Amino acid sequence: MSKVLVVYSTHEGQTAKIAHFIAEILRGHGLEVTVSDLKDPAEPVPSGYDGVMVGGSVHGGKHDKRVVDYVRKNLDALAGAPSAFFSVSLAAAGHDIEEAEGHVERFEEQTGWRPGRIGLFGGGLPYTHLNFVMRYMMKKIVQSKPGDLGTDVSRDYVYTEWDGVRQFAEDFAAGLEKAAR
Ligand SMILES: Cc1cc2nc3c(=O)[nH]c(=O)nc-3n(C[C@H](O)[C@H](O)[C@H](O)COP(=O)(O)O)c2cc1C
Repeated sequence: MSKVLVVYSTHEGQTAKIAHFIAEILRGHGLEVTVSDLKDPAEPVPSGYDGVMVGGSVHGGKHDKRVVDYVRKNLDALAGAPSAFFSVSLAAAGHDIEEAEGHVERFEEQTGWRPGRIGLFGGGLPYTHLNFVMRYMMKKIVQSKPGDLGTDVSRDYVYTEWDGVRQFAEDFAAGLEKAAR
């Protein structure tokens, strides 16, 4: 049975939800999947896996330092296995796909990693998880963007398109199956 590592970094939890959703799809393809949060002390080593997926979210225009450091540290192992990166942001929720692509381009420059596949997924607007100041700052940013992202700060919004995430996971599984033949 092929083994896959799905490793992610999250602030408010949306990337974790996406990582676990992907893991379930991969398991449905008979793959043995380990899901790992980079906040956990036992950092997984990608060598020994037949495929590796890394996920991270965008805050303040950048991917989390944890995910950048992890990729830099494990570059050789990542380059040697079928790999994918998924980036979670509001920009990918439709208001500016070029901005979302730009975040990934900068991530690739920072890390030197060229993942085999890239997924851009809309994230959430976790107003209720933010403190008072951040909540209103976020609302102001959202109002300045095109599109109709939510501005009711008394609730959270989720813009992840799960069908797209499913397709991404299915394509990754198909690629692994092909490589194993
Ligand atoms: C404080 C804060 C800053 C953010 N900055 C950006 C940003 O610069 N660009 C963007 O596209 N999305 C931004 N977002 C949206 C996040 O990428 C989105 O909420 C995502 O779902 C977070 O994923 P996580 O919960 O896994 O950390 C921001 C969200 C918060 C709360």
